[in-house]
Amino acid sequence: YPIFAQHGYENPREATGHIVCANCHLANKPVDIEVPQVVLSDTVFEAVIRILYDMQLKQVLANGKKGGLNVGVVLILPKGFELAPPDRISPEMKEKIGNLSFQTYCPHKKNILVIGPVPGQKYSEITFPILSSDPATKKDVHFLKYPIYVGRNRGRGQIYPDGSKSNNTVYNATAAGIVSKIIQREKKGGRGGGGGGGYEITITDPDGRQVVDIIPPGPELLVSEGESVKFDQPLTSNPNVGRFGQGDAEIVLQDPLVSKAFWFSWHLLFWQNLFGS
Ligand code: HEM
Repeated sequence: YPIFAQHGYENPREATGHIVCANCHLANKPVDIEVPQVVLSDTVFEAVIRILYDMQLKQVLANGKKGGLNVGVVLILPKGFELAPPDRISPEMKEKIGNLSFQTYCPHKKNILVIGPVPGQKYSEITFPILSSDPATKKDVHFLKYPIYVGRNRGRGQIYPDGSKSNNTVYNATAAGIVSKIIQREKKGGRGGGGGGGYEITITDPDGRQVVDIIPPGPELLVSEGESVKFDQPLTSNPNVGRFGQGDAEIVLQDPLVSKAFWFSWHLLFWQNLFGS
């Protein structure tokens, strides 16, 4: 969840360019972000992130049953850019945004925005309303070309903030030896199919020592009793159908005076050409 990143990391984008969601969301997929090439200062514009996937796709939920995927995004804007205030968002843009409520990554990083988890089926496209910065009122902001970075995720992560694995990942053998016993654990709660209650897998090594690997409900078992396994060999399939991906775009912050000057000189030349000077 974005909140795991907010609590765990001061900055969601590391110096290497790595976005921290990827520490817990392991599978990668490229991201599509759409922003204007040029934006005037102190102007509201859209950043659109598309999260396309097969909407029939189901994933393993925390209880081992199958369900839909949720999505989330972190958007890292140039310094001085921020979420557009509601009174500056046009009705058309409001319609595209829908009921989404964006948050700042933390109070002193207004240029970093997060959203999610929200249902992936409903929000395959997320429109962020953004206010460009104004070099006239903000120091350290200049009329330049700036990068925008995005990290976006669909589906449950593989690792919790405490380092433990979720049930949406592969479980590997913690010892080499023979699978001497497999116990299917009882389902909790009873009602509804799918998943069962997971497994306890006993592996006996050549010296007769035993380890028990606990598999939560979700991943499918790939080994059976009597089989020999190597250390770290997958005992289960990988149930993860989710993907995290990151990408970037560039935006030029343009001085309205420069663009007015350009407009003026263009017209001047146009009329001069037409009528001769
Ligand atoms: C779940 C997004 C960072 C671990 C989710 C979900 C979303 C999401 C949308 C819900 C998926 C679903 O229900 O289908 C993000 C984004 C991140 C981020 C955008 C970065 C800004 C992290 C980090 C960790 C993490 C840093 C680990 C420290 C998890 C786990 C789940 C999850 C374990 C599954 C929770 C459960 O269902 O039990 N994340 N996440 N996420 N995330 Fe993240």
